Amino acid sequence: MANELTIGTLLESESAAPARLLASRMNRHTFWCGQSGSGKTYALGVALEQIMLHTRLPLVIFDPNSDFVKLGEIRDDAPEAEAAELRTRDIRVRHSTTGAGDPLRTRFLQMPLRSRAAILQIDPVLNPDDYNTMLRMETDISLIEDHDLVGFMRSHPDRIRHELAMRLENLGVAEWKLWAWGERSITDEIDELPDATVVDLGGFATQAESRAAALAVLDHLWENREQRIGRLIVIDEAHNLCTPEPATPVEKLLTERIVQIAAEGRKYGLWLLLSTQRPSKVHPNALSQCDNLALMRMSSPRDLADLSEVFGYAPESLLERSPAFTQGQALFAGGFVDQPSLVQMGARLTHEGGSDVKVPLR
Ligand SMILES: Nc1ncnc2c1ncn2[C@@H]1O[C@H](COP(=O)(O)OP(=O)(O)OP(=O)(O)O)[C@@H](O)[C@H]1O
Ligand SMILES: [Mg+2]
Repeated sequence: MANELTIGTLLESESAAPARLLASRMNRHTFWCGQSGSGKTYALGVALEQIMLHTRLPLVIFDPNSDFVKLGEIRDDAPEAEAAELRTRDIRVRHSTTGAGDPLRTRFLQMPLRSRAAILQIDPVLNPDDYNTMLRMETDISLIEDHDLVGFMRSHPDRIRHELAMRLENLGVAEWKLWAWGERSITDEIDELPDATVVDLGGFATQAESRAAALAVLDHLWENREQRIGRLIVIDEAHNLCTPEPATPVEKLLTERIVQIAAEGRKYGLWLLLSTQRPSKVHPNALSQCDNLALMRMSSPRDLADLSEVFGYAPESLLERSPAFTQGQALFAGGFVDQPSLVQMGARLTHEGGSDVKVPLR
């Protein structure tokens, strides 16, 4: 049935009964947790493939380790019917690694003023002159030639505009390969509602550029929330983008934005799927809004105690099985399952992007 996403088999069932998620309940926020190597990214891929097969929910996947860049490449051993169906899906991967394929680009000048200021490390209160100059420039922005923002600011007599130009250069922001200038932006792609858009954040030279890319996409999704298009926003390694302790102005905005989507996004059809290694690494106000839980192996008693506190709907007796899970085993609880259940994840239909580094043997 279309409403049922088959993701593997039920552990301890008589004849390996299929384990299913309810597609209709993906309209909630989901938390996907497990220690490193427990198989989160692999399992997430299994679930996303099923969502693409059985729903029309557009996926926007934030991929910090380039693990999903092969989501459009079907494995030779995938069952033919599913493989054929998946081949018809519109899966767009936008890359941050140079030369890897269609590049991930976005438009600086289309980002909200607050986000542009954060990228330039300008605070409205601590740097009032700079911020105010940016604010007053807003009406001039349409005059800026596509790729010469620095030149435009230098051509003006205002000293502070010159300083802003220097800031753009000194921070290296003007040179980021992220900027689309006149080219196509990832936000244009997302607006065309592909079945999945992979936002590959793994290949940028600096963390600042990678975080700015994520902020541009999240800002865009939030700005267009009134369209009320149901979307699943998947954030692997969510602690990167929704940390309780943001260190930079951009990280602060990212955490704020994700917490806001967690709190208010549901009614606009913005549903989060946050994946991470430890619950305490994601902002508690995002965590507490998750109605679905997928838990893979986690051996830390403290982390399990945190989970049990936040996710009251996950039975204690099942949570405590988690330290004994082998790779690919998971507990599912919350609205997207009929009842809390232990699952052995099934096989991927598409290729994984990154792979573990192997120990070289002699
Ligand atoms: N169910 C599975 N079947 C086969 N291989 C798997 C399965 N789950 C995980 N693996 C393999 O184990 C390795 C680690 O899995 P994965 O990358 O999904 O872990 P992770 O929990 O996301 O780890 P991290 O937190 O470090 O990102 C990968 O090479 C993956 O191919
Ligand atoms: Mg992973």
